[in-house]
Amino acid sequence: METLTQLVYGVYLVAGILFVLSLAGLSKQETARGGNLAGKVGMALALVATVTLALIESERNAAVTAALIALALGVGALAGTWQARKVEMTQMPEMIALLHSFVGLAAVLVGFNSFLTDSHGGAVHLVEVFLGVFIGAITLTGSLVAFGKLSARMKSSPLTLPGRNLLNLGAILVSLGLMGWFLAAPSIWPLAIMTVIALAVGWHLVVAIGGGDMPVVVSMLNSYSGWAAAAAGFMLGNDLLIITGALVGSSGAILSYIMCKAMNRSFISVILGGFGATEGGSPQGAVVEGEHHETSADDVAALLKGAKSVLITPGYGMAVAKAQYPVAELTSKLRAQGVDVRFGVHPVAGRLPGHMNVLLAEAKVPYDIVEELEEVNEKLPRTDVVLVIGANDTVNPAAEDDPGSPIAGMPVLQVWNAEKVVVFKRSMAVGYAGVQNPLFFKDNTQMLFGDAKERVEDIVKAL
Ligand code: TAP
Repeated sequence: METLTQLVYGVYLVAGILFVLSLAGLSKQETARGGNLAGKVGMALALVATVTLALIESERNAAVTAALIALALGVGALAGTWQARKVEMTQMPEMIALLHSFVGLAAVLVGFNSFLTDSHGGAVHLVEVFLGVFIGAITLTGSLVAFGKLSARMKSSPLTLPGRNLLNLGAILVSLGLMGWFLAAPSIWPLAIMTVIALAVGWHLVVAIGGGDMPVVVSMLNSYSGWAAAAAGFMLGNDLLIITGALVGSSGAILSYIMCKAMNRSFISVILGGFGATEGGSPQGAVVEGEHHETSADDVAALLKGAKSVLITPGYGMAVAKAQYPVAELTSKLRAQGVDVRFGVHPVAGRLPGHMNVLLAEAKVPYDIVEELEEVNEKLPRTDVVLVIGANDTVNPAAEDDPGSPIAGMPVLQVWNAEKVVVFKRSMAVGYAGVQNPLFFKDNTQMLFGDAKERVEDIVKAL
């Protein structure tokens, strides 16, 4: 038994290293598949090792423990597979939010269980329980509200209660007082009262944030769920859970920071809420006047034939239209004719971090022609034609020119600096931020109206 337990800890170490390698791999497109595989192998090893450990340490009949674990795993695997198969790419953020709520719930349950069953833990254990339940409860209700807002089951506008920051601060101070009580006289009462308060704080924190900032919140909750898992790891004395939780916690925090920077929002203002009220809908910022110029697929095909360099900037509309396949076909056709084709991907194009990269990889667009904001902007003045496929906010010059615009200061792809710009969309409607786009009225811009997939297919045919 002793040797088997040692072996399990060895496997935990290997799984922990695989998780680190997985994150490193996932940070670059070329190595993402390898990273994904490392993560899967690590998780499989972790599961096998944990079940083995549970069986070794089981106080009752090992067969009963094994049956209970198999039942839980079976139900979880069935529900997970069913959900993962039916979820649309555009519903991914809400699914992730829901999954985070499970991590929060698990941390709360583990905390209560750990307190009720382990009476010899001492002060350190009590602090672990208290913090684990606190973070878990915030993550639970916060993630449920994020799920509700993203899936349009709840209103996406922020609820701003008077003195909301004071309310949050008050709740934290009361919880600190309850922790003092819990440490001085351990009982279920301070823990239960704090749980109710933390559930309310989680709800209040996220209900105060508008739909526009919700993806940042999801990534922030991802970070919280990591810390909740790490706290559960401390309570259970499980090193792998501590490592995994810390990895998720810190990577979620870094991702939230990167997203805030790309959307020009301050991290603190997102966390404190009350922002992001500008989800699609009424146009804001300066009113744009002027005429737009319409074009046809045949004319765009002719334009592309005469071009030496073409840049394609995809956005949320490409995902909606599922236009990535004809876009990939257009790319290979143009490249075969000697045209230099590149992709410019904005860090928050679409609705998920890396949304466009995933779609382009799915359609087998070569990684080495997919470029990021800075390198693209530098090359744009020397580019003949830009195809803006279903992107809007990420190519909006108002972010640079109109200080009163809700997206003022957000870094954008400066497509207007190219010789000619063709915008693929169905109407003159605004994008996600609800802001009018002066790009559509510029002299070197032409609008190609209709579903992006159909229009790109028309161009491929015409070529
Ligand atoms: P958006 O500004 O959302 O605009 C997408 C455009 O696609 C719309 O103007 C729409 O115009 C068009 N469209 C929709 N369906 C289409 C179809 N079937 N065929 C052709 N066009 C279609 O896009 P974006 O430039 O990618 O910007 C992303 C926005 O989301 C930013 O404001 C960003 O801050 C926000 N956001 C992103 C993230 C992440 S992490 N990616 C997270 C949160 C928020 P029509 O209706 O006229 O067709």
